Amino acid sequence: MNPETGNLKQEASQTDESEIKNRKSKIVHPAQLEGTVKVPGDKSISQRVAMLASLADGTSKVTGYLNGEDARSTLSAMEQMGAKAEFKDDVLYITGVAGELQTPLEPLDMGNSGTGTRLLAGIVAGSGIEASMIGDDSLSSRPMGRIRHPLELMGASIGLTGKRGTLPMMIAGGNLKGIGYLLPMASAQVKSCVLLAGLFADGKTTVVEPRPTRDHTEKLFQALDLPIAINGLEISIEGFGKTGPRYKARDFVVPSDFSSASFWIVAVAARPGAELVIENVGLNPRRTALLDVMKRMGADIEVTVTEAKGDPIGNIKVCGAQLKGTVIEGDEIPNLIDELPILAVAGALAEGQTDIRDAAELRVKESDRIAEMVKNLKLFGVEVEEKEDGMIVTGPTQLKTPDAVIDSHGDHRIAMSVAILNTFSDGPITIDKVGCVDTSYPEFWQHMEALGGRVG
Ligand code: S3P
Repeated sequence: MNPETGNLKQEASQTDESEIKNRKSKIVHPAQLEGTVKVPGDKSISQRVAMLASLADGTSKVTGYLNGEDARSTLSAMEQMGAKAEFKDDVLYITGVAGELQTPLEPLDMGNSGTGTRLLAGIVAGSGIEASMIGDDSLSSRPMGRIRHPLELMGASIGLTGKRGTLPMMIAGGNLKGIGYLLPMASAQVKSCVLLAGLFADGKTTVVEPRPTRDHTEKLFQALDLPIAINGLEISIEGFGKTGPRYKARDFVVPSDFSSASFWIVAVAARPGAELVIENVGLNPRRTALLDVMKRMGADIEVTVTEAKGDPIGNIKVCGAQLKGTVIEGDEIPNLIDELPILAVAGALAEGQTDIRDAAELRVKESDRIAEMVKNLKLFGVEVEEKEDGMIVTGPTQLKTPDAVIDSHGDHRIAMSVAILNTFSDGPITIDKVGCVDTSYPEFWQHMEALGGRVG
């Protein structure tokens, strides 16, 4: 395939479809939420499992796989490259290609998934097949130069034909060599991309992180006995050369997604008198910094670990209280990066200032989450100051129901954060383009109603 003129004929129709779907809107009423809930499978782990099980020899049984759009896009991409996937009674069976990925006949449509795109780019670049990747409007505006750079240093050829280092992306790899790479930003996606490519390189690949980020890739490599060495912020993988690693299929259990749980944690923690239990949540320490922050804010949260082997899994009990502001910065940021929109909501309800710093990465997520949250909080009458790398929110606010329709900008976490915010206001709001919620939490609206919310 010519990296500049790759086959993109499907692009227009797929993008139209996702735009139509995304246009749906929801009316959310104020309500006290409480009860018991189990949120769907972890998005980060599901997609990594889809990739690694697809490379394995044999059939892996995957319990708890997220049936959301991002995880489905990644799975479909793996099927386009030869893996077989089948759901039977909510259990997913993935039959891998035993290291022999096939060249896809059409572009891989990664939908909204940054994780799928960036991690899979590492595998495709390593395995030596050629593929192109496309995505929806949001994904097509996200920076991909951050993976092109290390993959090109390893010897892959990466074409980014979007306007500013963005999708569509054409990848032609093979014959990679191991590199030492100092990550320019704290990103688990970039780290994982390089480590996955490193599996197919000649020699050792080492990445050094500026701050600790989620380590699901490393944990899965360990579970599969792949030769990974972790020394603080330095992670190395011994490459298997262009044929890649050979390993047997195995069973995987995906825990519930802590990031999805965080919406209910804040909804209840900030409401004195309310009580809620979230069951079976993944408690990987690189994902749960929100719990530390909420406790600093005065939240009443109790965690009971039900499974301590490997990454802990447990139940989270939350009792409502008056929260107070805090500073969120530094090493904490990557470990709650996806929870910052809902933490901004907590800040609006807390007494005093909640100061979010060192979070410029938020500007290149599914939307510019700093700009979007600042704009939305202001619509509710919240005092908030936008900073280049975060925001300062001053509360508590007597929320006023905005007249304007809220635009999610196709960002699932913005849509869900605003929905939770409005449970504390005094009237209904309309949130537009809520189809995006399906990417990580298709049952969100149903669960909101089951917990006492009113959604129309
Ligand atoms: C993810 C890592 C984070 C996070 C994203 C999922 C992952 O992105 O925001 O939702 O699964 O590795 P970065 O690592 O780029 O910050």
